[in-house]
Amino acid sequence: MVDARPIGFFDSGVGGLTVLREVLRRLPDESTVYLGDNLRTPYGRRSDDEVRRFSLACVDELAAREVKAIVVACNTSSAVALPQMRARYDLPIVGVVRPGATAAALATRCRRVGVIATPATVRSRAYFHAIKDENPFVEVYEHATPALVPLVEAGRLEGPEVEAAVRAALAPLLGERGADGEFVFPLPEHERIDTLLLGCTHYPLLVPVLERSVGDGIAIIDSASATASVLAGLLEVNGLAASPGAVARHLQLTTGDAAAFCRTAERLFGNLFPTVERVVLRGAA
Ligand code: DGL
Repeated sequence: MVDARPIGFFDSGVGGLTVLREVLRRLPDESTVYLGDNLRTPYGRRSDDEVRRFSLACVDELAAREVKAIVVACNTSSAVALPQMRARYDLPIVGVVRPGATAAALATRCRRVGVIATPATVRSRAYFHAIKDENPFVEVYEHATPALVPLVEAGRLEGPEVEAAVRAALAPLLGERGADGEFVFPLPEHERIDTLLLGCTHYPLLVPVLERSVGDGIAIIDSASATASVLAGLLEVNGLAASPGAVARHLQLTTGDAAAFCRTAERLFGNLFPTVERVVLRGAA
């Protein structure tokens, strides 16, 4: 059985494109519809009620476009609104928290994982519980890093301002570093992590800066490729995969400014997504 319908994706903005990119690598025959709710970004500082309302409006838009499955390419929505989305539709709906949590729990050798995420994701404790479900012996250190999403949405991925923001964001997990990059206040051995989980889909776009900041000996994990694997399995099991060699079509939607979305997406991904349309969501206001 083959199914030519597109797979739907949504995020508060451009961050979920990091998940889409992995899915396209893995499933090149699949058509996609990506929705960025740039008008209401960032979700991470919103109340749970707002995140749920906005997430349901995004899912409604994608369902109306006859998608065959939905990837919630936003950790905040996955952490806070997954049950409500699944209650509303019987479509397969994949979140990014569990795949990322499993990957991190399997990656750590010293059984200490640091998670950076939005305030709403950290407040939900979704990563803590998902990692503990996978391996109860892993210590989970979660830290909210709200300064990073606005930088990515503005297309600022490098430079002294970004380096400083990333270093400040990581200090509670890694210890305080001086201007020369050396630790001024190193953490005691028993608190040091060996795995840093990027619990926000915007953060993989900062990986070059993150890698410089964490230094050697710490694995950086994100949920994109683990989510793409879960999606691939789900399409297979449910007979929803596109036919091999099908011509895939990709549509990008934003609730914000289409030209600005296009510029950011192009800066991040080259001309992978040439078509961006503006859309008005019902029920999110
Ligand atoms: N990229 C999203 C996430 O993974 C949302 C970031 C935000 O809007 O605050 O949580």
